[in-house]
This record gives sequence, C-alpha cells and structure tokens, in this order.
Amino acid sequence: MSEPVTGPAVFVQTWGCQMNEYDSAKMVEVLASKRGATRAVRPEDADILLLNTCSVREKAAEKVFSQLGRWRPLKEANPDLVIGVGGCVASQEGHAIRERVPWVDMVFGPQTLHRLPQMLDNVADNGAGTVDVAFPEIDKFDQMPPASADGATAFVSIMEGCSKYCSFCVVPYTRGEEISRPFDDVILEVVELAEQGVKEVTLLGQNVNGYRGPMVDGSVCDLALLIEHIAEIDAIERIRFTTSHPLEFSDALIEVFGRVHKLANALHLPVQSGSDTVLNAMNRGYTVAHFCERIARLREVRPDISLSTDIIVGHPGEGEDEFEATMDLVNAIGFDSAFSFVYSQRPGTPAADLEDNEPRAVKKQRLARLQDRIAEFNRAFMQSMIGTTQRVLVERESKRGDGQLAGRADCNRWVNFDGHPRYIGSFVDVEITEALDNSLRGRLVTREPVEAGIEYRMEASVD
Ligand code: SAH
Ligand code: F3S
Repeated sequence: MSEPVTGPAVFVQTWGCQMNEYDSAKMVEVLASKRGATRAVRPEDADILLLNTCSVREKAAEKVFSQLGRWRPLKEANPDLVIGVGGCVASQEGHAIRERVPWVDMVFGPQTLHRLPQMLDNVADNGAGTVDVAFPEIDKFDQMPPASADGATAFVSIMEGCSKYCSFCVVPYTRGEEISRPFDDVILEVVELAEQGVKEVTLLGQNVNGYRGPMVDGSVCDLALLIEHIAEIDAIERIRFTTSHPLEFSDALIEVFGRVHKLANALHLPVQSGSDTVLNAMNRGYTVAHFCERIARLREVRPDISLSTDIIVGHPGEGEDEFEATMDLVNAIGFDSAFSFVYSQRPGTPAADLEDNEPRAVKKQRLARLQDRIAEFNRAFMQSMIGTTQRVLVERESKRGDGQLAGRADCNRWVNFDGHPRYIGSFVDVEITEALDNSLRGRLVTREPVEAGIEYRMEASVD
C-alpha cells in the first residue's frame, strides 16, 4: 500500500502533564506516518482538530466543552473538518461527549490513540462518529510509528497506567492499570533515537518504578535493570525518569544511582503529605519514616542530588496538625522544588466519599505558606549553583531571542549562556554566574568537540 505524500493538517490543543504532551506528539506522529498528516499551527488552518486534556487536578470536562463550543463555527464553515477529543476527559465522559456535542467526530482514550487513522477513515467513509475509549490490554506501543527524535532529548514511554489507586487520583480510572512495555521494544526505541542524535532520554510513565518489562527469556526487567541496560548504549549520555513512587523505590534503584553516572543527579519523588494519618487516608502505602529512610539511603550514594516532589494540601483528614507535619517534612528533607496543589475532589475516586470539613480558604492559606517555604529552598538551591561548573545539554536558542543558548544541567534546571548555535545538541560545560528563580545564567568554559557532520549541517543552516 502506498502512503499518501501529503495528508490532512492536524492541530492538537493540549492541556496537561508531560504524559499528555507525549500523547499529543504521538497522535501527530501516528497520523503523519499512516495518513501523511502534517502539523497545523492554528486551528483555522487544520483539517483535523484534536483536543487532549488531563483531568487529574482540574475540572477539565467543562474546559473541553467550552473549547468545543469555540471550535463550532469552524465546523459550520467547513463540514469536512474532523474534530476529535482524547485524553482523560474522553475516557471519563465517553459517549456523553458526542451526546452533548454532536459535531464531535471522534472520542478516543489514552490507550486507543494509535487507532486514530482507522477512526479517521471511518468518519470519512461513513460520516459516522466513533467513540473508542477502551483499555485494550494490547499493543498500543506496537502500533506506534518508529521513534522519531526532535533534538538531543527525548521522552520514551516505558509503561502506561497506574495500579496504585491513591484515594484522590483519577489516573487508574482514566488510563487503566499498569502495563509495561516489553524490554526489547524499549531498548530498540532508545537505540533508534540515539541513531538520530538523541543524547538524553527521559523514561516516562505514571509509576515508572512499577515497570515490569517482559524479556525474551521469560524473565522480567525492573526499572533498575532497564536503566543499567540503557546506560550501556554509548550515545546515550544522560538518563532521567518520571514519575516514581516512594513505595517501590527499591534498594536496587538506589544502587543504580550509585553506580550509573549517566543517571541524572535529580529525582522527582512525590510524597503528597508529611502526615502518616493523611498518607494512610490517601492509600499511599508508606509512612513518613519510610520516605525519609529512602531519601537518606539515596543521599548516601548521591549526597548532592536535587530533590523535587508533589504535595497535596487539604486532602480529607488533614487538619492543622497534619499540615504542620508536612511543613516539618519539607524542612527536614529540603526539597529544592515542588509542585503543590490544593486537593481537588475528583468524581469516582474513593477520596470523594471522605468527609472534608476544612474550609477552602484555610487550605489556600496553607498552600501559600508551603509554597513560600519551597520558594526559599528553591532560591537557596539556585544560589548554591553559582560558581559551580555544570554539564549542560544544549537544547535550543534561548526563547528571549537574545542570541543565548539554553540547555538543562544535570539537576534539570535551565541554564542560559552565550554560545554559537552549533552547540545545540551537544554537552558543554558552563560555569554558573547568576541565579534567577527559574533558571541559571552562566559562561561557556569548555567545549566538547562537535562531530564534523553535525557541525557542517549546523553551519550550513546558520548561514
Ligand atoms: N504518577 C503521576 C501522578 C499523577 S498526578 C505522575 O507521573 O505525575 C500528578 C500530581 O497531581 C500528583 O502527584 C498529585 O500531587 C497531584 N494530584 C493528583 N490528583 C489530585 C487531586 N485530586 N487533587 C489535587 N492534586 C492532585
Ligand atoms: Fe495517581 Fe497515585 Fe498512581 S497519584 S498516578 S494513583 S501513584
């Protein structure tokens, strides 16, 4: 079968986390490889409009319906326009979306986005709308086009879904239970990315240390072993993963931090609360003492590792004392950054049935206190970088358009510095001279030799 040369233009509107961004990129890739689609920059220029949203923390459903309302005139002006809704909201609402918004043509979930080309054909051939939000225990990964790199960093999805069932969280219901991608497939994808110039991979999943990848010999590979294997691929110089869970933060994984220097010196480990009562109500499965013990062990092998976390303020069961316990934990660990949120009741989750008597205003005050404290830690961390030399993977020219380059240090912070664009895609050493709240500034100190081919290509495009 011959593939079309140019196909429809697709515009994707994404709201959500890295997982959603990743899924959106895959939607475009799958339509590009199977139907020759190209990416549209504006909805007005598109033949296909896709909406991909996350409902983890927000009442995303209303946002979806109002966006669809804004797209309605486009559909009226062009009846051939295909509109699709994907992501968590689609899995939760399913058929209800087409009942409420009949001009939507396709509704698909995170686990069925690989079937978009067939859904599209269905709409074109029969004019029929499609709703496909199942959790097939299958080959979503198998049906994806081969990995394609855009620059020197890439996300690699290693598992889908989550089976932890935290009381407050919709993910197990919207993305389904954990399912790991086979070991060989992951390695192959990383090798393919490396061949295209990727030097840093981030292993992606809702609960990556639940990774249990089947291997051809019938054994099972865990995250620690997977990282060791990826580290063997020469061209991959830096490895990250997100997001992991304190419960399965195994000794083996800590040992890998000690042994594998390619594993970046940063860890995002969501703790959610510093109170055992609340952790229990959250069904997190660990205690504060367990979390602290894991971090202490990790710091034995990586004393200066950068630690970040997620914290929920105002989960049912959190009173003043429980919140103070969270502040104590934050102070004890000294996270250098954190994502923190006021608890938001998600329909269908166990926490939605728990009694919750704390006023929202109180929760917001607590959140503000917590965020102030974390901001202090963040500033101290950024200041501590001044004078150090950081190995930076240069990703792009700085967004400010001031001729600077931007890349990320091992600790995952952005670093801006003066340099020739030919360094994009390479590791360089940068001495940090200035600390801002969200990024660092520095001076290029050493340059790794840039491979001749890349240099030539860059020079040619720089002009
Ligand atoms: N393992 C996932 C966690 C998904 S949700 C990941 O990779 O990110 C991300 C964060 O959102 C959680 O760690 C939690 O802190 C927050 N969150 C999830 N559900 C929430 C809710 N109902 N209310 C407030 N915050 C929530
Ligand atoms: Fe959600 Fe808890 Fe899993 S926060 S993604 S159910 S680890």
